Amino acid sequence: METYDAVRTVLAIREFKTDALPEESIRKIVEAAHLTGSSMNAQPWHFIVVQRKDLLDQLGGLVSSGPYIADSSLAVVVATEKNSVYGISDASRAIQSMILTAWSVGIGSNWAGWVGMEAVGTLLNVPDSLQIVAVIPFGVPKDKRGGNQKNRKPINDIVHGEKFGEPLVMG
Ligand SMILES: Cc1cc2nc3c(=O)[nH]c(=O)nc-3n(C[C@H](O)[C@H](O)[C@H](O)COP(=O)(O)O)c2cc1C
Repeated sequence: METYDAVRTVLAIREFKTDALPEESIRKIVEAAHLTGSSMNAQPWHFIVVQRKDLLDQLGGLVSSGPYIADSSLAVVVATEKNSVYGISDASRAIQSMILTAWSVGIGSNWAGWVGMEAVGTLLNVPDSLQIVAVIPFGVPKDKRGGNQKNRKPINDIVHGEKFGEPLVMG
């Protein structure tokens, strides 16, 4: 799948089949995080790959914004150094790399976070110097979704040409 097609069709997936993920796909997802560029190449991040069913169940219980983590085949817990100014931006970029890489090989995922992050850190023995940014569950999508099911603002509401409020003229 071409990069643009992955961006065009990817959706937040919250329902997964129970299928195990191919090792090759897992490797690609993890490498996508590892290879992402970060501010000043500081790489202020850690990625904890959770596949144990008991831990996935507990993550689903702790993250109330993502109970479906319990039904995923694998979750990547993303942590950044608390003292990194760019940690959230860097982590967000790595998360998008993983989401698009997964989507391109038929694996759905989503960003779950904001609530329960400290408890997630405790569960997974994450050191105090790190903060949990998100938990990203991955799995084979239960339903075929994608493409034109996006609900987005009209492009001209948020894209401007040259100056704010002026339309972008495309040839
Ligand atoms: C920074 C960020 C945080 C998000 N947090 C959550 C979350 O905690 N739980 C959740 O189910 N989805 C979460 N999402 C997914 C969004 O709800 C989703 O991207 C948005 O609704 C668009 O979905 P679509 O691409 O399927 O149209 C998050 C997305 C982003 C980018």
